[in-house]
Amino acid sequence: IKRIGILTGGGDCPGLNAVIRAVVRCAVGRYHIECLGVLDSFDGLIEGPAIIPLSWHRTKGLLFQGGTILGSTNRGDPFAYKVRVGEQIVEEDRSEAVMANVEKLELDGLIIIGGDGTMAIANKFWQRKRLKLVGVPKTIDNDIWGTDETFGFHSAVEIATDAIDRLQTTATSHHRVMILETMGRNAGWIALHAGLASGADVILIPEIPFSLGAVVAKIMERSSRGSRSTIICVSEGAAPIGGKQVTRELVPDSAEPVRLGGIAERLCRELKGRIQTECRYTVLGHIQRGGIPTGYDRILCTRMGTAAVHAFVEGQFGKMVALRKNEIEMIPITEIAGKNRFVDTGNDLIRAARDTGVYFGDE
Ligand code: F6P
Repeated sequence: IKRIGILTGGGDCPGLNAVIRAVVRCAVGRYHIECLGVLDSFDGLIEGPAIIPLSWHRTKGLLFQGGTILGSTNRGDPFAYKVRVGEQIVEEDRSEAVMANVEKLELDGLIIIGGDGTMAIANKFWQRKRLKLVGVPKTIDNDIWGTDETFGFHSAVEIATDAIDRLQTTATSHHRVMILETMGRNAGWIALHAGLASGADVILIPEIPFSLGAVVAKIMERSSRGSRSTIICVSEGAAPIGGKQVTRELVPDSAEPVRLGGIAERLCRELKGRIQTECRYTVLGHIQRGGIPTGYDRILCTRMGTAAVHAFVEGQFGKMVALRKNEIEMIPITEIAGKNRFVDTGNDLIRAARDTGVYFGDE
């Protein structure tokens, strides 16, 4: 193996650069493999190609730098690539352009760092084109099937925990109900962990529908016991029993999902009139995806990045690095593509939350 390409796909998260660093240092230092960084996910191999050389020297400082030096895009899947034709957005299969550029650049294959969507694309390239590739699972959502954790998740939890800690003090000063909305799409991992870590009184996640009446009852019960403030940590995908998720919808004539006012805002509106206490909400948004990775994530990134290189050298193509019971393993991408890992309602963290008085949706 002489030369590999590295790309980052999907939404960014803390730790992407730390993985890039680990891959380059291991590939260059241990195996004398040249590394090329592909810019803006698969886009860099569709047009262009758009690539940058990644030397050992270039990795200096990357361990703690947020974002991705390679850039990323949501334009997505080269097998159904979105292009604008006049007023319309149509999908074209540009996968052959990717294969042609891989050949032109004399890449032995790709290390693909991405979330569920990127892994699904990687799976198509492996299945249909036999492109040699190894995947590394990233996302703050922690929702990739087959791995106990994704890098970026721990950092997002720390950010959300810090945010709730800050809301706690102002909630106490003003005797208010404070709602914090976390990201996570349809998975409640961030809200579950951050809510538990920061002692939220109510935690609402997509996997367990909640009842508005029970939330109101919780606030009333707290106030009857002298607690004049309440903290609610709600995951963006959470919904009331029988209700619809409200966070992201496709706006007509647009390829992009747009935030149209989330669950925190709706909850705040619903609570007004039902409780005496004032209510305020905060949507944490992309702050969860920015900035430096935690020490834990930096270590996970280094483990996963180096494991990806070893797997590549051993010829374990079509596989993704996974963390299982704190051991690094390689699992076939085919097995995980198209699946997500949601919070299991029997999760012991949920039990611990309920055991310590948290309202966590109806039991
Ligand atoms: O998948 C990561 C994530 O941050 C989700 O938690 C969130 O719903 C989504 O991406 C936001 O996407 P965008 O950056 O396109 O608004």
